[in-house]
Amino acid sequence: MDRVDLVGDFGPENEEFLSDVCAALKESPRRLPSQYLYDERGSELFDEICELDEYYLTRAELEILRRAGEEICATLGPACALIEFGSGSSLKTRVLLDRLHDAVAYVPVDISRDHLQTTARSLVERYPDLEILPVCADYTRAFDLPDWAISPRRCVTYFSGSTIGNMNLKDSIDMLRQLGQVSGDEGGILVGVDLHKDSETLVAAYDDRRGVTAAFELNLLERMNRELGADFDMRAWSYEAEYDTERQRIEMYVRSAVNQCVEIGSKQFCFEAGERILTEVSQKFTLASFSALSEAAGLQVSKVWTDTADQFSLHYLEPA
Ligand code: TRP
Repeated sequence: MDRVDLVGDFGPENEEFLSDVCAALKESPRRLPSQYLYDERGSELFDEICELDEYYLTRAELEILRRAGEEICATLGPACALIEFGSGSSLKTRVLLDRLHDAVAYVPVDISRDHLQTTARSLVERYPDLEILPVCADYTRAFDLPDWAISPRRCVTYFSGSTIGNMNLKDSIDMLRQLGQVSGDEGGILVGVDLHKDSETLVAAYDDRRGVTAAFELNLLERMNRELGADFDMRAWSYEAEYDTERQRIEMYVRSAVNQCVEIGSKQFCFEAGERILTEVSQKFTLASFSALSEAAGLQVSKVWTDTADQFSLHYLEPA
């Protein structure tokens, strides 16, 4: 057996994928819903991104978890349950779980069903005393949490990798609120937050020399071809990233090289040569701007850790 049964499956079906894609392409400016970047292939490419020289975020968050691990675990306290939104391969979380000896459960929540099941299997082997409760869900929508075998003393939600930056500011406040609701009044939220820095470093992190990020983004079009029977001509699309210094956010786009029409389901979308579709944003923060965001969600920052180069931060939030 190389998989573990899911304790909840609320993952999106094709119909939802199709209607989400069509709705986002009708917005102006045109967009694509970024949660669909993570199919099996997308999740593999994302793991590759995390190891790129240019992509400092994962290494910086790992450094914080290793260096401040003891203090972070003391903050979470005994008999806690860790609920991770967007757990992917749970690589960073292992650093935490290795040090969190008395946790009662780990709930990895991810949209990528197969990837989640394979990851859960390896976690069960590595942490035999911990209850592993994988839930497949698009966490931007409501979903049910599993029942515990042992009731935790505290629930802590973990939202790593600066995924909080991959939504507009209003949605990120709603997301923080939702994380707060899941953690409960006695709980906490551990959130990884990337910090504002020079544009060159940032653009390189989102447009690497080897083109892994480009492949990751363009895979969304290929996924539509595979799963929705769309007919994107992959030779006619390219990827680009830019940093909006005023809004302090990276914007990622796919660009049409020619005038073209694409069929998706029964719908047709036409693009002009040079037209771009926004596929993802990655908001950057200062410690102060993230603290203000947390306050807007009814939370307060009780602890902050940063890496030695001050590139990235990990915040522990509690109800205000
Ligand atoms: N949370 C990650 C980030 O903002 C997601 C990410 C990394 C990403 N690289 C990407 C999303 C490239 C789209 C394209 O850094």
